[in-house]
Amino acid sequence: MAEFYEVKIADLYKETKDTVVVTFDLPDQLKEIFGFIQGQHLILKKTLNGQDIRRTYSLCTSPDDQIWRVAIKQIPGGLFSTYANEQLAIGDSIEIMNPRGNFYVETNPDTSRNYIAFVAGSGITPILSMIKTHLEREPGSTFKLFYLNKTSQSIIFKEEIEQLKNRFFERFHVFYFLTQEQRDIEFLNGRFDKEKMAILTKTFIDIEDTAHCFLCGPKDMIFLIRDELIAAGLPSEHIHYELFFSGEPSTADLQFAETLENVPDGTAVTIIDGGKEFHFTMQEANQSLLDGALSEGADLPFACKGGVCSTCKCKVLEGEVKMKLNYALEQHELDQNLVLSCQAVPLTDKVIVDFDI
Ligand code: FES
Repeated sequence: MAEFYEVKIADLYKETKDTVVVTFDLPDQLKEIFGFIQGQHLILKKTLNGQDIRRTYSLCTSPDDQIWRVAIKQIPGGLFSTYANEQLAIGDSIEIMNPRGNFYVETNPDTSRNYIAFVAGSGITPILSMIKTHLEREPGSTFKLFYLNKTSQSIIFKEEIEQLKNRFFERFHVFYFLTQEQRDIEFLNGRFDKEKMAILTKTFIDIEDTAHCFLCGPKDMIFLIRDELIAAGLPSEHIHYELFFSGEPSTADLQFAETLENVPDGTAVTIIDGGKEFHFTMQEANQSLLDGALSEGADLPFACKGGVCSTCKCKVLEGEVKMKLNYALEQHELDQNLVLSCQAVPLTDKVIVDFDI
């Protein structure tokens, strides 16, 4: 069962004009349950303006550091990110859920692998954790980072990246791309596009020798890079990605209702969570299991509500559901009847789902 724990802010500083880096003061008794894998995220929760606000932020430290730290970039109009950047202070309390997420590959000290990553802006946080962890634990591995930002001033963790470059100078290479500042080398100006990817995959990246690629940024960037890498010969199962979630309803979401056929008049839903059963009836067409359950008073784990973070994952034991969107679950998870409850709409008059997985 997913639970929130109240912790204090141990440290906080502005990394760039609009990004605050927050370190949590984890009491010893929580350190085991908050153990994490590089690339995983925390869910932060705060009541702001009377609303239960939850956001996911990736840990930027290595699990070996025993430090729980995230970077929060201020989004224009973003309630939580504005609060974190403008009001949050050392010593304040905040609720956090233990780390989760599948955006990683296991480390193995006996292998020598070449990793690459394409990142935009605050997408650096999980990747920074991976770079440190893989390079520290795998003495024979290398990492190439292609990092896109607006200007050199807005590069998050620039100093730490440069220190890592010095420390692992033979095994870690970074290429900064800027969109709003001219660099002398024309190739490093502007976003990743097909043309740049063609050059990168021919000259900077040895596709055959690349073990894994990690992508973190907005959807359009990720899917373009993914497709170009696959076209260049990198197997899709070696490409791992995590999307930024915009919070806006997508076209796919809005069109979803039209794709539903033979929707039942009502669905008797049973939710199993923490070993207990919760029963209710859903009548609203196109409503997700999560929203249906929350409106009936259930206390279930969720964060993004956008099909991205997988916090709301559950297993369908009986009945049928259809997901509006899925940016989080992989095929092997779908094969086990796992669904994202924030996206799953019931298609049968009875549905039983289990959150204790
Ligand atoms: S709450 Fe994030 S995927 Fe459902």
